[in-house]
Amino acid sequence: MQALLLAGGLGTRLRPLTDDLPKPMAPLGNRPWLESLIVHLKREGVTRFVLAVKHFPEAIERHFGAGDRLGVEIRYAKEDVLLGTAGAIKNAEALLEDRFLVVNADVVHLIDVRKIIRHHHMRRAAVTIGLVEVEDPSAYGVVALDDAGRILRFVEKPRREEAPSRLINAGVYVMEKNVLDAIPAGREVSIERETFPALIESGLPVLGVRLSGYWMDMGTPERYRLAHWDLLDGKLSLPLLPPEKEPGVRIGRRVRLGRHIKLVPPVLVGDGAIVGDGAVIGPYAVIGDGARIGEGAHLTRTILWNGAVVAPECAITESILGDLTETGVGLTIAGAVIKLGRAARRALTARVPESPLADGIAETPFPEKAVARS
Ligand code: GDD
Ligand code: MG
Repeated sequence: MQALLLAGGLGTRLRPLTDDLPKPMAPLGNRPWLESLIVHLKREGVTRFVLAVKHFPEAIERHFGAGDRLGVEIRYAKEDVLLGTAGAIKNAEALLEDRFLVVNADVVHLIDVRKIIRHHHMRRAAVTIGLVEVEDPSAYGVVALDDAGRILRFVEKPRREEAPSRLINAGVYVMEKNVLDAIPAGREVSIERETFPALIESGLPVLGVRLSGYWMDMGTPERYRLAHWDLLDGKLSLPLLPPEKEPGVRIGRRVRLGRHIKLVPPVLVGDGAIVGDGAVIGPYAVIGDGARIGEGAHLTRTILWNGAVVAPECAITESILGDLTETGVGLTIAGAVIKLGRAARRALTARVPESPLADGIAETPFPEKAVARS
């Protein structure tokens, strides 16, 4: 089976984290979400991937290459200008097979590929759209479905009172390649605003099938954070997560923990992280791979990306620290999103050959007195 992953959106709502990172590369549980998605889809029998990229494509290509490390085949369809969701699919046409899966790569969901394919195949659909039910559908594509599971209307981001139902487009589709004939080439086209309504209008079988299990569009800071807390709470289980050492405490490899520290569940401490004496981590903290926490620091409801450094005696809550960011000593930080600017990042990545986000662990040690016995 082949999947086309839409990974080219601007990620505006996740700025500044996505200023120099494509949104699907934002880490979830210390791994780029896109990587967990590909690993999951591989387990579901998808072995050939096309990544539709636009925004910082080199970050994606550098990380995945041709897919050898993950044991899959990855090809890239690049856009010079944003083509929109349908435009991106059309742009990949030459690489696509007769039937393929399309996934919005910012949607966190462990898709049951076989189920949606089976449904699509049995019903001879042109397009089968995965659906989930939400409380407020106004931020999504909303469908009206008949009793036979056929989509009668598709309305993108309607006002709440105008939404035809609470069933929304989950951002997961199976498509027949001939549907691409309905998409004009060379201009921006939205699959949600143009293509789906036109296909339904023309009478082609556009079906909806309900997906079960966890689902989250991680495209806003609130939902990005929520996906992490769900991960820590065990509502979402990802393929590449370190094991639980005790209930609610996940610790990666080669972690160095200081004396008199407290890990208050739920927490996740990434590979190679260093935690200084007397630090209190959690509840709800994700410590990135190779991150360093100084003596006496307190962290709650906070996400540190890989290689971030929290200086001693800092108290941080409700915050996200981008990879390789470093705080001053003794700061209180609440509700902040901090990331390195481009110049600082360039200087640092010149020193650390590859960003730990891409490749594992930064080996720069934390100031000696914060490093505890192992
Ligand atoms: N290559 C490429 N080019 N990808 C794009 C482009 C583009 O021009 N525009 C968007 N994408 C990618 C995004 O990276 C994302 O993975 C996906 O397409 C959807 O775009 P978003 O910008 O995240 O859309 P949304 O979240 O507002 O709404 C979409 O997702 C909802 C489910 O989360 C729509 O498909 C809704 O109908 C749906 O309910
Ligand atoms: Mg989205």
